[in-house]
Amino acid sequence: MRNGRVSGHRGVGKKIGFVGALLAMAMSTEVAWAQTADQAWIRGRGAHDPVDARVRALGPDPLEQRAADELERGASGIALASGADSQKKAQIVVGTLEELRNAYPALRLPDHLVADGFWLGSSIQQGNRLIAIAGSDSRGALYGAFDLLRSAAMHRDLRSMSLAESPAMPIRWVDEWDNADGSVERGYAGRSIFFDGGHVRADLKPVSEYARLLASVGINGCNINNVNNAAVFLEPQMLKEVARIADAMRPWGVRVGLSVDIASPQKIGGLKTYDPVDPEVIGWWKRKVDEVYAAIPDLAGFTVKADSEGQPGPASYGRTPADAANVLANALAPHGGVVLYRAFVYNHHLDWNDAKADRARAAYDIFHPLDGKFAPNVIVQVKEGPIDFQTQEPVSPLFAGLEKTNQAMELQITQEYLGQQRHLVYIAPMWKWVLDFDLRAQNRTTPVKEIIAGKTFDRPLGGMVGVASVGQNGWLGSPLALANLYAFGRLAWEPNLTVEQIAEEWTRQTLGNDPEVVRTVTAMLMQSWPAYLHYTGPLGMQTLTDITGSHYGPNIEASENNGWGQWHRADHEAVGMDRSVATGTGYAGQYPPELARKYEDAKTTPDELLTFFHHVPYTWKLLDGKTVIQYIYDSHYQGAEEAARLGQEWKTLEGKIDPQIYNEMHKRLEYQAGHAFVWRDAIVQYFLKLSGIPDEKGRAGHYPGRYEAENAKLTGYKVVGVQPWEDASGGKAVSCAETNCSAEWRYEEKAGRFDVVVQYFDLQGGDAKFAFSVNGKEEAKWVADAKLPSRTLHGDNTTRYVMRGLELKPGDRIELEGVADAKDPAAFDYIEVTPVSSVK
Ligand code: GCU
Repeated sequence: MRNGRVSGHRGVGKKIGFVGALLAMAMSTEVAWAQTADQAWIRGRGAHDPVDARVRALGPDPLEQRAADELERGASGIALASGADSQKKAQIVVGTLEELRNAYPALRLPDHLVADGFWLGSSIQQGNRLIAIAGSDSRGALYGAFDLLRSAAMHRDLRSMSLAESPAMPIRWVDEWDNADGSVERGYAGRSIFFDGGHVRADLKPVSEYARLLASVGINGCNINNVNNAAVFLEPQMLKEVARIADAMRPWGVRVGLSVDIASPQKIGGLKTYDPVDPEVIGWWKRKVDEVYAAIPDLAGFTVKADSEGQPGPASYGRTPADAANVLANALAPHGGVVLYRAFVYNHHLDWNDAKADRARAAYDIFHPLDGKFAPNVIVQVKEGPIDFQTQEPVSPLFAGLEKTNQAMELQITQEYLGQQRHLVYIAPMWKWVLDFDLRAQNRTTPVKEIIAGKTFDRPLGGMVGVASVGQNGWLGSPLALANLYAFGRLAWEPNLTVEQIAEEWTRQTLGNDPEVVRTVTAMLMQSWPAYLHYTGPLGMQTLTDITGSHYGPNIEASENNGWGQWHRADHEAVGMDRSVATGTGYAGQYPPELARKYEDAKTTPDELLTFFHHVPYTWKLLDGKTVIQYIYDSHYQGAEEAARLGQEWKTLEGKIDPQIYNEMHKRLEYQAGHAFVWRDAIVQYFLKLSGIPDEKGRAGHYPGRYEAENAKLTGYKVVGVQPWEDASGGKAVSCAETNCSAEWRYEEKAGRFDVVVQYFDLQGGDAKFAFSVNGKEEAKWVADAKLPSRTLHGDNTTRYVMRGLELKPGDRIELEGVADAKDPAAFDYIEVTPVSSVK
């Protein structure tokens, strides 16, 4: 028991209070939405039509027809924004630049448009409003149509519009990590929209809806299968089936790509080898690629994960990534296909005891010497940071290390390490930070966005790849997570957009133009990544999560003592990896000179990356004057409060937005607020114990009103240790060893109204039940039916139930009953009693 005077004996007290609003904080069943693009930012437009607007596609191309269909839905909005009124007709025409020129010789059109680009213009022709969309080609025309719709939805004035736009980079792909069996690696939105039971799904309507969604933000490629387990996708039967997917996406200008296994010649081709320089292997790839293109004539290309996390690769034969990439590239070149070769190549059996070993170095060490050796249609796909989609990492130095190679930046839209869509995290500010980051290559201004757009080193191909891993449950599972997919497309199109503007665009299109809604949601999105960063991994320690398991809840030591190399090396005195050249792994030296100098010295390394580059004592003073340990405490308290505020802000929108989205997000944000406390408490108590340095604000280790389960009078419940210990208050919880169990406390504090939290573990494989009573009167009961990761008591699955406004007085008998069900033992950690309204 901590900080409370509640005795564990049974007694009879008089209940005088009542329970106010009861609120389940746990997430229960998942949302099941029909899978259409309208539930995302393309929402039903043009329900009524005050203006007579006619839409015409100038050519027969299916993309132009799609453009016309879309415009028809939003015709009245466009016409109004263009200044048409009900007296006059408005006409909207869409076509290629050439078609427009032929049909409207009087229009002042641009001479030339860049591939995928478009021109939009509004004018009066013969007394009527004409809105014209000219695409460089039919895909550009489609993008122009979506841009016009976006502008109309944003209530932009289209009266004197005349603008030309083109994408900043040619590669704008999403990657899906779908397996043939229908599971989705790192997907948090249910089963695959593409595959099931080893085959392409019969119903591909969701796939074409997805392509429509992608097209609306200018995404032109979709690599549909997992980078692991890829061999089967090159089997003849599968290729025929994949052709149906390509057919479903093609009318939206989205080309399909395939992940391929470098060992395919052996795995499915029956060869004895997959050595990329072996003539038989070269011949096999050539024939296979021809077969692929016979089935899918416009395949975008291949994505390769090799020599990484157990995937086979050229290293088995002493060959390089360039050898492997070029064999594929040469086979693809005649068909216009490209190879996205992932730089995510590293040894996951590193020696933890070797102070010089460093996973962060791997991509640069392997790929930099190969610069200039890749075929022209190879693009090296570089993760934005040197490790793996953590809450915060430095920018990969490899971007500056490849001057003669096309590059794409890879990021994750799916929130593997960022709360798995149960937490609201708008990631665009992090991506934007990377895009704008000036690597100072060749001692000049070289922001990442210009390197990947091919501008810095004059490379023709390049771009952005976002791992989306969508599923059948509302695409990304959480309605607000869709802002990330939207932002990815918008940034790949124009990396100079601000992320606030993108957030606002998304909000207006998804939730409407009510200024309060727009202001609130935009602000929530903007606050969400910093908040997550604050309650998870501070100062460049990366996400302090279960590296070898779920990648979700806190598990600080999971990254240590193993070969995966996500080390933070926290000990009693200090924390962080020494990556300096002078005394550490030398990683800092992979950056161009200006940055290398900055990161070499802890005194000039920015606070947010300090422990990524240096092993510093807990008493080290940050640039802002705080000690490292105090920052750990403060940032976690701050982050948990920020998370709680997100939920409060959302509540102000009740009645102002779509109730389905409101309710779904309300549930999720309440859950997030509770889980942020779990994160806070885990990290704070861990570092308090490890460092032995108290929190100067007196919070760490002190939890007023908290009553530990293990200190209650227990019937049937047994005290158990939780692994990792920091995931439970004081390291312990109780688990029901029988079917019906109970825990009792005597309340001995001041009388008053309280919010009462029950912190319990909701395990999969059963739906345990809980009932909470005071003096024998039941105040609340609930079922633990959430779908949370891990099968043992863990920070992944600890969640809370909150009762608000409960009246208590000294002597009251508080009881929590738990009914175990199958593999869910109705375990819990503590209850916490706090004066009303201090529970967020
Ligand atoms: C992460 C992720 C894996 C994935 C890998 C990759 O490590 O956890 O599921 O396969 O990245 O990018 O290849």
